[in-house]
Amino acid sequence: MADFDLIVIGAGPGGYVCAIRAAQLGLKVACVEGRDTLGGTCLNVGCIPSKALLHATHSLHEAEHSFEKMGLRVARPKVDWEAMQAYKADVIAGNTKGIEFLFKKNKVTWLKGWARIVAPGKVKVGDDLHLARSIVIASGSEPASLPGIAIDEEVIVTSTGALSLGKPPKSMVVIGAGVIGLEMGSVYARLGAEVTVIEYLDAITPGMDAEVAKSFQKILQKQGLSFTLGAAVQSVERTRKGARVTYRLKKDDSEHSVEAEIVLVATGRKPFTKGLGLDGLGVELTERGQIKTDKQFQTSVPGVYAIGDAIVGPMLAHKAEDEGMAVAEIIAGKHGHVNYDVIPGVIYTSPEVATVGKTEEQLKAEGRAYKVGKFSFMGNGRAKAVFQAEGFVKMLADKDTDRILGCHIIGPGAGDLIHEVCVAMEFGAAAQDLALTCHAHPTYSEAVREAALACGDGAIHA
Ligand code: NAI
Repeated sequence: MADFDLIVIGAGPGGYVCAIRAAQLGLKVACVEGRDTLGGTCLNVGCIPSKALLHATHSLHEAEHSFEKMGLRVARPKVDWEAMQAYKADVIAGNTKGIEFLFKKNKVTWLKGWARIVAPGKVKVGDDLHLARSIVIASGSEPASLPGIAIDEEVIVTSTGALSLGKPPKSMVVIGAGVIGLEMGSVYARLGAEVTVIEYLDAITPGMDAEVAKSFQKILQKQGLSFTLGAAVQSVERTRKGARVTYRLKKDDSEHSVEAEIVLVATGRKPFTKGLGLDGLGVELTERGQIKTDKQFQTSVPGVYAIGDAIVGPMLAHKAEDEGMAVAEIIAGKHGHVNYDVIPGVIYTSPEVATVGKTEEQLKAEGRAYKVGKFSFMGNGRAKAVFQAEGFVKMLADKDTDRILGCHIIGPGAGDLIHEVCVAMEFGAAAQDLALTCHAHPTYSEAVREAALACGDGAIHA
């Protein structure tokens, strides 16, 4: 007889959400986690700690740049790095303990240790063998470095080291202008570092709507970040002062180098499946090392499922959560479903950038007839009142049916604003549906409505 109906491997946002939902549906559930705390990369060394540092340094920036303009005279704030790190640690602890509480409340057993699947239905944690009717792999991802670069997490760091530096550096080179590079680059630029971002492609944030990416780059440059685009990094070597990054410019193949106290390697992540015993089990992987699954999240081995960063798709905590809930429903004999067309993406810089659905470039490539409704936060009274009028909302709708196809926002609170568009898209709404919905004044959300109006007869405040 099985010990559990379900064993979930990994307690990140995919795994813990799956475990809780399955328990709520009446299954006897265990979740295996080898870290000392629950929550995975996201809560321990990812989304949550980075948000603490982004919030603290954004507050610093506000105090330095906006307070006087509002008639607030205070002494220039001093950064107490140890205290800021302690604040970050408190935030992490509050969140990870919260998951422990939720496990207890929902009667999910935490099996402490690293799991290995020895056969379908059999999971070894240390020396203990546990039997389960179903297994869900939610083992997440780890940083993917570049060949020949030795990460030491002190001078040459991934996001993990970047969250816990000994002190804020005076200079930093960031390799990769993706989400991690720009969020962490923003943190240290606000703390006074000279930040140089080196990116292989010719634009920052690959895959993002090009107009938004361009505007985003300009805004970040005004904040002091500098960008070297179209540059292939060749090597990173430790020096007396820190490390030297050598790169080749693609346009003329010329070689250059730049030295900094800290080098952050933020060139993407790869599935973390080490030690799970997938080889012996015969679980099929893609050529990029992702676990292959069918539409029900089942791997090539019956009874073994996989979700989140370990499988195909965007490496986002909320995508993993949705898959976690869906696979729990499926295992419990219900219908689980994830709508991959409506998964928002957010970059938590200041201003934030948020996006959902198709970009203009994708629509062009697909040959779709579309219309664009744009509205600048310069026309939004609330944003102007708080010195956050940089940026705009860009809505894309089908030219004939007016159905919303995508939305891209750079501006205050973009990460929250995007969700009314997500809901609208889930319901197959037209831009006019949003345009006809009363929005409270004065809110940033009015900018979303104005962009929807701009898809029709025109925005009012443009
Ligand atoms: P990323 O895929 O977002 O960006 C990596 C960047 O590195 C790309 O622009 C790529 O062109 C560049 N690159 C690759 N090789 C290079 C080279 N040799 N030289 C120069 N540039 C090079 O990956 P990132 O930022 O490391 O993030 C990893 C994952 O974590 C992503 O999937 C991201 O979505 C996720 N994440 C999400 C966050 C959020 O939702 N706010 C926050 C942090 C991470």
